[in-house]
Amino acid sequence: MTLRHLCASVLLLATASALAAPDAAALKEILQKNNCLACHAVNAPVVGPSYRDVAKKYKGDAGAPDKLFSKVRNGGTGVWRQVAMPPNPGIPDDDLHAVIAWILAGAPEH
Ligand code: HEC
Repeated sequence: MTLRHLCASVLLLATASALAAPDAAALKEILQKNNCLACHAVNAPVVGPSYRDVAKKYKGDAGAPDKLFSKVRNGGTGVWRQVAMPPNPGIPDDDLHAVIAWILAGAPEH
């Protein structure tokens, strides 16, 4: 991990907990680094659902953060369609929590 990445994560966590509005640029970098964008876009379905659609589906679902954390970590199928998301073992817990919070906040671009 480079110093730049470290700074970005620290900043991101500070922002996420203080404002519940994680920095979109830092989040995009996490998504990029962990290959999420190969299958997901913010606004349109690709291989997996768009992050905006995920936000809509789980609006008001208090269990969503935990459920989605395990789903992305372990992979799975059948919720959106019969295509599987593979497990994502490489993304650090803190990064994954930040990504899920950002998605559930409606995947804001700014
Ligand atoms: C190889 C393609 C692929 C990659 C890489 C991938 N996903 Fe997915 N993702 C999918 C598919 C397909 C689904 C739909 C699974 C289903 O219908 O149950 C999905 C579903 C999801 C959902 C909704 C889960 C649900 O049960 O409603 C979230 C959130 C998500 N992905 C986030 C991520 C994140 C974050 C990453 C990167 C760490 C990632 N995905 C990487 C293909 C992928």
